[in-house]
Amino acid sequence: MSSGPARPTLLEIDLDAAAHNVRAVRQLVGPERKIFAVIKAGGYGFGAAEMGTAFARNGADWLAVADLSEGIRLRQHGISTPILVYPNSLPGAAAEALAHDLVPTFVDLDSARAYSEAASGPCDFFVKVDVGLERLGVPAEQAVKTIRAMLDLPHLRLAGLCGHPHADSGDSAYADWQLGRFTSVIDELEAQGVRVPVRLLAATPFVLRFPHTYLNAVDPGRMLYGVIMPGETPPLPLRPALRALKTHVVALKELTPRARFADRAPFPVTAPMRLGVVPIGSADGMLWLNAGRVLVRGRAAPIVSSPSLEHTRIDLTGIPDAAVGDEVVIIGRQGELEITPAEVASRHGLGLHHVATTVGPRVARVYLSA
Ligand SMILES: Cc1ncc(COP(=O)(O)O)c(C=O)c1O
Repeated sequence: MSSGPARPTLLEIDLDAAAHNVRAVRQLVGPERKIFAVIKAGGYGFGAAEMGTAFARNGADWLAVADLSEGIRLRQHGISTPILVYPNSLPGAAAEALAHDLVPTFVDLDSARAYSEAASGPCDFFVKVDVGLERLGVPAEQAVKTIRAMLDLPHLRLAGLCGHPHADSGDSAYADWQLGRFTSVIDELEAQGVRVPVRLLAATPFVLRFPHTYLNAVDPGRMLYGVIMPGETPPLPLRPALRALKTHVVALKELTPRARFADRAPFPVTAPMRLGVVPIGSADGMLWLNAGRVLVRGRAAPIVSSPSLEHTRIDLTGIPDAAVGDEVVIIGRQGELEITPAEVASRHGLGLHHVATTVGPRVARVYLSA
């Protein structure tokens, strides 16, 4: 008997799609610009180390994370590509970041001071400028003064500026206003004799729509995973990295209508039902990952009742040949039928880029490549 996975619930990820997408970004931005492949949030749910490796092998110059511990894990995984860490940690983590050869992003002088004190040699750093997202970053108007103060500290060497624009629409005037806020900081620094080697502004929405914002580097995230929002038209075809969320039938039984307590049943058992149970539940994100049906033997089977922590019930009455061990597709294609990530996302009000991050960490990520 062949051995299968201990828990037969899998997120299948297309590494060839990831490779294709980063090559598409290279085609868009040209050979000279640096590509910072964003693998924050565990590589958008797909696995930071595996996706980072695929991106670096296919043309990304840098990897970017937001979580310092994720950066450390990438180094422990043997990844030697330069890694930028967006601001997310406290100054006390400086020594640890430097020990793992991670390049920090500062948004205040306190962090800069901590890295300056922890460094024993030159310490490259980025500064994040807030140009419109109103989240992390030195406000554009204060950036020059703050950066000059950072540069007065021992060991610190400005490697670049980054910004993460607000891009909820394709409004080019809004994009240009944010671009202008960013470039005016660069222009002023350069006028004062401060060189800004890397100028990093364009994430996916700007890479897709506004080539004039590419400057000399870009930091796309979701487009590398083939996550394209409704209404977006990529200038080059991109391929989804999410191939399928799958599980298998682990138990099956015939239910007969209850003679007593019918009204107390977890769901109406008013007619005979072939009930299947699959090993994925709310602890795996199933409350938000289901389309109300799954695919078994190329046919749709309704989900019955609400997923519990570890399990979900499915109605196999209409699939009399279904058996224990059958593949069950929660998202993906089976035979002629398909449940798309977009359908699942819109059913639960999720952004498309939240589908893979919603798949819990116990669901094995399986990487497919031709
Ligand atoms: C600083 C920064 N740059 C780039 C990105 C990538 O954004 P996107 O997935 O829209 O390409 C993110 C993601 O949130 C980010 O925080």
